[in-house]
Amino acid sequence: MSESKPISSRIAGFYRQPLAERIDVVDGTGLLSEASRAWLHRGGGLERGIADRMSENVIASQGMPLGLGLNFRVNHQDYLVPMAVEEPSVIAAASNAARLVRISGGFVGKADPAIMTAQIQLDQVDEPAAATAQVDAHRDELLALGNGAIPRMVARGGGCRDIETRVIDAEAGLVVVHVYIDVGDAMGANLTDTVAEALAPRLLDILGGNIGLRILSNLCLKRMVRISATVSAEAVGGESLVDGIVRATRFAEADPMRAATHNKGIMNGIDAVALALGQDWRAIEAGAHAYAALSGSYQPLTTWRRNAQGFLTGQLAMPLAVATVGGSSRIHPGVRACFELLGVKDARELAVVMAAVGLASNLAALAALAGEGIQRGHMRLHKRRFQDTEEIVGLTGHNGGNGDE
Ligand code: MEV
Repeated sequence: MSESKPISSRIAGFYRQPLAERIDVVDGTGLLSEASRAWLHRGGGLERGIADRMSENVIASQGMPLGLGLNFRVNHQDYLVPMAVEEPSVIAAASNAARLVRISGGFVGKADPAIMTAQIQLDQVDEPAAATAQVDAHRDELLALGNGAIPRMVARGGGCRDIETRVIDAEAGLVVVHVYIDVGDAMGANLTDTVAEALAPRLLDILGGNIGLRILSNLCLKRMVRISATVSAEAVGGESLVDGIVRATRFAEADPMRAATHNKGIMNGIDAVALALGQDWRAIEAGAHAYAALSGSYQPLTTWRRNAQGFLTGQLAMPLAVATVGGSSRIHPGVRACFELLGVKDARELAVVMAAVGLASNLAALAALAGEGIQRGHMRLHKRRFQDTEEIVGLTGHNGGNGDE
């Protein structure tokens, strides 16, 4: 982990300060470059000309509230966590749970090296049973071929690490070759696809059959992040709440109907950070849910238990492909500003912080659900949204929600 920074993620009363004062607080941290300060003071967002370079058929850029997740302490380091999310109470809830975890020292976590998986599909392979041995016999040659396709990543210390052959359907001769690639601080989709395409013709020579797809798997099982948190019964609000949170996890373990909602609460936090930092949140979502379903029954990504000392302890494990280089971090001024605020040194550190936000979001949701229910706090913040809208744009009547809000 990087050296301790002077920044504290605990800013008492931040949510009560007027917006202009919050901006001053952020500016006053000294974390932002001149360009990012200018971006902050002009209200954030994305200039249309830049949006036009990022996507196609662009007509405007879509706004999203950007807030700070507070109180986060992860591996003994404080982080101000940028979160972009339209749903009220996600940022408040995560910050609140992070405050509870902080009391017992904060989150502790670790991310795997950034190993992505390329998949090369071959159909009608003549001798599927021999495929593994045939590919293994050419292992070094194939890895070198893959490395030759991504020389700049190899120069940065990444590259192809291993190769594995899976016979998926022997009768149909469906064989899939996996190449495991260390993509460093990149998300790695393009690098992985490049390797898959580079290896395919040689694999066809070796195995015969027909080449099919050459693409990464978003279920990046070799790029896992794991995080844990411990909270005292007192901090969480009493023994019966601890009990309720443990029972809530068991409910999710036993019922995919509940597990889906449980995991949605985790992804509330993870996706919000992903969006603020320009990450591929579709890839993150795909990996998370595929992992949750890996055992054949859809499972919660977190578990909460009471430990021998009576503390509530939570664990989150999931695949997480995130980047500190490439993608929109190069071009989007808001993404750059968010990286400056967060201050992570590499993609693995980013993954650990994002996982902490996911675990915090889950803890907050379960504590509310096991206690007074989610609606009281939620509705207070929803109400605020509509009051503010009235003040800002002077709308009346149709902004009162649709009855179930
Ligand atoms: C709402 O966005 C998320 C929750 O439904 C999560 C959960 O039920 O655990 C509150």
